[in-house]
Amino acid sequence: MHFLAIIACSFLALSAASEWGYPDLDKNQDEPFPKWGGLCDTGRKQSPINLHVKGALKGEFSPLKFENYDEHQGALQMVNNGHSIQLSGFAHELTLSGGGLGSDFVVEQIHMHWWSEHTINDIRFPLEVHIVHRNKIYPNMSMAANFKDGITVIGVLYHVSNTPNEAIGSIIKSLDKVKKYDQMNVPTLVADSLAVDDLVPSVDTYFTYAGSLTTPTCAEAVTWIVLTDTHPVTLDQVNQFKEIEYKEDKQLHNNYRELQSENNRAVVLVQQLQERNSAGRMSGLSLGLMLLLGVAVQQSQL
Ligand SMILES: *[C@@H]1O[C@H](CO)[C@@H](O)[C@H](O)[C@H]1NC(C)=O
Ligand SMILES: [Zn+2]
Repeated sequence: MHFLAIIACSFLALSAASEWGYPDLDKNQDEPFPKWGGLCDTGRKQSPINLHVKGALKGEFSPLKFENYDEHQGALQMVNNGHSIQLSGFAHELTLSGGGLGSDFVVEQIHMHWWSEHTINDIRFPLEVHIVHRNKIYPNMSMAANFKDGITVIGVLYHVSNTPNEAIGSIIKSLDKVKKYDQMNVPTLVADSLAVDDLVPSVDTYFTYAGSLTTPTCAEAVTWIVLTDTHPVTLDQVNQFKEIEYKEDKQLHNNYRELQSENNRAVVLVQQLQERNSAGRMSGLSLGLMLLLGVAVQQSQL
């Protein structure tokens, strides 16, 4: 009997390791966040974290440079991988450089989390889009994940609005083809064309810090760039993503990882150095910062 129990236990442990997931908050609001194992449990530079203006160092970097992000992508692939909705298959290389980055990074895939993984001044947002980039000096993502300069992720937060977001809307239009469990891991073509630019608001101000992937293996290879400017999305739109299935008749209602310890890491709030340009652009930037600081002041008064 004991022998059988041991076999059963090791089998369970094994299947748990390969089938990681998120707590089922429908069943139990207080369900503890599952242990994912390895670095996810033992790492000291894990993501996501709460980003707060008061705790951040002030930084100034040269502008981030985006190549081909404005190109309309006519043949994007979409997949429900059981953990998120993921887009890939970009027509040309989308290259990110500049800022504090030491080399060129190319877009590998884009996926989303509902609700947001990062919080800003303790505020959670309804949606966070991750644009995952690989350092070009590494041949693929599995290699890049072994190095601390291997991956850069741009995190874009979306705020609740009553105006539907057009770019998110064009992704949602093709969701029906991948929602069901039997369509999981079957890629489909995104019917509408969209440019990656459409998913990115202003990049003039952002938080940056050294962290990890927010899914197993939780590799500590990520330079995070979380933009402070946000895009609108309606709750109806976010609810469409919550209908995708990860098991037979089981919908993925939440796919955000719990907040991780900052562990004395430097979080830098970057204001891009502006090339001399119109005053209108500068005042837009300071307005964004003031709004952010306003939130911090409100919270300290609570
Ligand atoms: C990634 O690149 C390395 C080195 O070229 C190679 O050995 C490995 O098989 C590649 N992995 C994948 C998943 O393509
Ligand atoms: Zn992500």
